[in-house]
Amino acid sequence: MLLAESATAIGGAGTLFGPLLGAATWLYLSDLFQVTFKLGTTWKLILGLVFVLLVVFLRRSIAGGLADLYMLITRGRQPAQTAPASATVPAAQRMGAVTLKQRQSPAGRQSGPILQVKGLSKRYGGLLANKDIDFSVDHGEIRGIIGPNGAGKSTFFKMLTCEVEPTTGAITFEGRDITGMGVVDACQLGLTKSYQINQLFERLTVRQNLQISALAEIRGKFKLDFLKSMNRVPGLTEQVEGTAALVHLTRRLDAPVSELAYGEKRRLEIGLALASSPSLLLLDEPLAGMSHEERVETVALLKSIAQGRTLVVIDHDMDSLFELVERITVLQEGSLLVEGTPEEIKSNAKVQEAYLGGVYEEMA
Ligand SMILES: Nc1ncnc2c1ncn2[C@@H]1O[C@H](COP(=O)(O)OP(=O)(O)OP(=O)(O)O)[C@@H](O)[C@H]1O
Ligand SMILES: [Mg+2]
Repeated sequence: MLLAESATAIGGAGTLFGPLLGAATWLYLSDLFQVTFKLGTTWKLILGLVFVLLVVFLRRSIAGGLADLYMLITRGRQPAQTAPASATVPAAQRMGAVTLKQRQSPAGRQSGPILQVKGLSKRYGGLLANKDIDFSVDHGEIRGIIGPNGAGKSTFFKMLTCEVEPTTGAITFEGRDITGMGVVDACQLGLTKSYQINQLFERLTVRQNLQISALAEIRGKFKLDFLKSMNRVPGLTEQVEGTAALVHLTRRLDAPVSELAYGEKRRLEIGLALASSPSLLLLDEPLAGMSHEERVETVALLKSIAQGRTLVVIDHDMDSLFELVERITVLQEGSLLVEGTPEEIKSNAKVQEAYLGGVYEEMA
């Protein structure tokens, strides 16, 4: 047990070969100190000191140190990648001319509802986060969801993607009952969401993040091919580079996520969801925390992404949402309050009273 922990700490957690490297180093040094140097009982003390030095000086362990060294060498040979993506990506590409692999819906299901929800509720102890929601989205629609903080919007999305099991109710996606199916299976079927709070692998590059997501779709749930080079997975490079182009991150593909600006991280979050080729994409507050310019650019990006897909978008920025979507669903205290076009929602008395606080009264 101690050897396993030491080996992981020395070799590198979160890597395939790190613990093996750590175990080999540990065993080699213990043999060296005991057999070759004949240190007697003090070998443990010396090995302990070496362990401390390795941890202090190689913060990311041996595997991490080797990876850093590789990055340093290869980066020295590459041109700097600091220019903002929007300044360098061709305009046609920025407007969504990039074509990404898209799922083929089952024949005959291109029109009508892609998703239907009946009587969906979620109870957390004494709190009803969602109450008896009926909801439907058509193929190719862009739907907005608004509601005050705590209205149950994110909980609703989590149930739709099968991340959280509903207390009651049923979810039908492309004619199939997916209630209680599990998030991995739902994603495999083409139902994916981007998160309200970024869920990125900070130490990995943009490319590696996108590869992980794209592989989830290309490889399926489980395959015994973990030693296969990623370069040899058919279609992976095209899928990753196509996705990066769609979210304007082509020039940042080999940058570690920790070096990205916040707006770029939000775009990568959308990219992770897109890389699994969803036919229905749920976006939880994609504009959160962005500057005005970034919001304008991201709304244009979402419009380009929407071509050939169905989108459901939660956001608190109503001006941007009203510009983007065709219909809006309003949630309040876990229940569906009203649905309608942006114009209908702006002029709806219940919405003004419950949510907008009269902000849009003059526009009605
Ligand atoms: N895992 C959980 N356990 C207990 N309560 C939860 C859990 N997740 C959400 N809730 C509660 O459910 C209610 C709805 O939360 P939810 O995150 O869905 O709201 P939201 O509309 O997305 O809010 P926001 O606009 O702030 O993101 C809140 O009262 C929240 O505290
Ligand atoms: Mg939320």
